[in-house]
Amino acid sequence: MKQTGNRGEDLRARAQQVIPGGMYGHQSVSLLPDSFPQFFSRAKGARLWDVEGREYIDYLCGYGPNLFGYGFEPIDQAAFRQQMLGDVMTGPSPLIVELAEAFVSMISHADWAMFCKDGTDATTTAMVVARAHTGRKTILVARGAYHGSAPWCTPRPSGILAEDRAHVDYYEYNDIESLEGACRKHRGDVAAVFASPFRHDLLRDQTQPDPVFARAARRLCDEAEALLVLDDIRAGFRLARDSSWATLGVQPDLSTWGKCIANGYALSALLGSDVARKAASSVYVTGSFWFAAAAMAAGLETLRQIRDTDYLERISTIGARLREALHQQATNHGFGLRQTGPVQMPQILFEDDPDFRLGYTWTGECARHGAYLHPFHNMFLSAAHGPEELTLTLEATEAAFASLKLRRATLQPIPKLAGRLG
Ligand SMILES: Cc1ncc(COP(=O)(O)O)c(C=O)c1O
Repeated sequence: MKQTGNRGEDLRARAQQVIPGGMYGHQSVSLLPDSFPQFFSRAKGARLWDVEGREYIDYLCGYGPNLFGYGFEPIDQAAFRQQMLGDVMTGPSPLIVELAEAFVSMISHADWAMFCKDGTDATTTAMVVARAHTGRKTILVARGAYHGSAPWCTPRPSGILAEDRAHVDYYEYNDIESLEGACRKHRGDVAAVFASPFRHDLLRDQTQPDPVFARAARRLCDEAEALLVLDDIRAGFRLARDSSWATLGVQPDLSTWGKCIANGYALSALLGSDVARKAASSVYVTGSFWFAAAAMAAGLETLRQIRDTDYLERISTIGARLREALHQQATNHGFGLRQTGPVQMPQILFEDDPDFRLGYTWTGECARHGAYLHPFHNMFLSAAHGPEELTLTLEATEAAFASLKLRRATLQPIPKLAGRLG
């Protein structure tokens, strides 16, 4: 194969030969501007370095897992220490009990915990437990919400049978009538209602949960004797030190966790209240690596950091400063931004940008100037995003706004996105 001398491009060409599509899943940059690197060589704190050695302030945080900073020593050391003692063994280490105790003590609805690896493991196990508990089939999920990549919930239809979703039905987030309608339609057969902490769908403004809707979801589940599942995989511990609807006074029966609960080590969890304990004990779910002790050591230290530090307040402060400064920059350059969702997990879209050409070009320029921001997926801040990172980010975004302003009149629709915008 001909080498271009550009390591990133050469790796993409080699990947095309040996990896389907060159890269798959949510970390594929095939839908992103050309300036986005596909491969990284290292990460530290809030920063990433691509294989060409270019540095970025990273606002994706590995799509969530990085909460305290990449390579955060207290957590890494806990994991390394356990790695030396034993990781994947013939049975779990005592850490599984300590970790379950820690979750139960921190998450007010939880009386028990089960651990797995990815978010999809946790949501799929929640579905199985709910069906085991109720002896029913139907799972209600909000339209456009993401609960993972298994056949019952993956957003792409390829390879999926209608039968895989035969007992999954949809409602509109924050819309009580729609959820009531779905419960009525499946009266007597609803096993679970899944909800995300706030609306964090792709390609649209994020919406905070309406507390009236959250309370109605709880009431409808109680009336239907179905389980309420809060999917905290994406938002968990970035909104609260408890499950994300605790601040609304709404407690789910099950909650699913993943991404940041071990600061990047592979660990996810299903937490439940006593009501579902018997069903959870009855199902067969497992995986060769689910009980690995090093990730649990990382998880335990992550929970300690969550409990004992002001990480959440710091992330919120930096997030608010970023939002305000971007608003100012955009206004100065004649653009309107729609910055939605919690400041800790911002979504940044442009006004008057129905086909995303402004946001796409702007984030492409931001990447060129060293800030990794996403044109249509919500982003994540970490406790490693400090004032210095903010300053560097704002230099990059300012340069990107200036460039966008110059190019505005000549921008064209983005062919890569054409099929995705409906
Ligand atoms: C809300 C939500 N649920 C479930 C998942 C699936 O998690 P994983 O990719 O770890 O399987 C994700 C992943 O992005 C998510 O955001």
